Amino acid sequence: MQAKIVILGTGGTIAGTAASPTDAIGYTAAQLGVAQLVAAVPALAGLPIECEQVAQLDSKDMDFATWQRLAQRVAVHLARDAVHGVVITHGTDTLEETAYFLHRVLAPAKPVVLTAAMRPATSVEADGPQNLRDAVTVARHPEAAGVCVVMAGSVFHAVGLRKTHTQRPDTFDGGEAGPLAHLTAGRLQRLRDAPAAKALGLEVVSRDPQAWPRVEIVVNHTAADGRVVDALLAQGLDGLVVAGTGNGSLSNALTRAALRAQAAGVRVLRASRCCGGPVIALPGAALTEVSDDLGAPQARVALLLDLLGRD
Ligand code: SIN
Repeated sequence: MQAKIVILGTGGTIAGTAASPTDAIGYTAAQLGVAQLVAAVPALAGLPIECEQVAQLDSKDMDFATWQRLAQRVAVHLARDAVHGVVITHGTDTLEETAYFLHRVLAPAKPVVLTAAMRPATSVEADGPQNLRDAVTVARHPEAAGVCVVMAGSVFHAVGLRKTHTQRPDTFDGGEAGPLAHLTAGRLQRLRDAPAAKALGLEVVSRDPQAWPRVEIVVNHTAADGRVVDALLAQGLDGLVVAGTGNGSLSNALTRAALRAQAAGVRVLRASRCCGGPVIALPGAALTEVSDDLGAPQARVALLLDLLGRD
């Protein structure tokens, strides 16, 4: 019996439609069901594939309740002996956050492959069908393991992934370590192994999503005076990622505001507003926690999970 692949749909441009086949901008995301996406890829016909619609949203609207449900559904399917791997169709906009979330919570031994598209399903230049086909190829691979992302012929590890371009189909970048593999004409060329990881476990994210910690991102910029941090503090804040300039540097006023937040019990982590490169801790700095290889959105997920695990 051939090993089964479960494809979970969550929406995104890959499931988007536009009025005209030449329109790749003015479309609506999350319109087609995951079974329709699979049916549109002739190469997937006859493969043992099961589809489940977990959500149907534009990923800019991704929320904690959907993350919780998605992690639970992935875990349920991976626990089935007949299932070799899971593919998730997702929007590109917050894909790096969902991939990192699933990686930290599940760190699965079986493959969990997220994929997406930059052009809607109705476009004459739709990239979704090939990405979906490639994602299934990776999920079926005998050596595939862990959470990865397949897009435009590259396979990326979840950690350090960033969306880097507003329009291009090869929008993702895997960070300093680069991609895990490339796919050429359906053949996988492995470049490096994914680093070992330990799962936090589903219990960490089992609490009512309404009660998850509040973690915000604030950006440093010219004349950043830190008042936004004080406003957040007044509303109730548990964690703060400050996307600094360069190596995570903050204006003096923003530093003082972040220190006020830290003194009030808020965990503060310095990341960078740059699109690439790590943030390296500086000896003697007042704000000691840094994002290392994670961009600010993934650093926020890391902080959220730390706070969930601590409560
Ligand atoms: C989304 O993130 O759901 C819309 C944009 C995209 O998928 O590229």
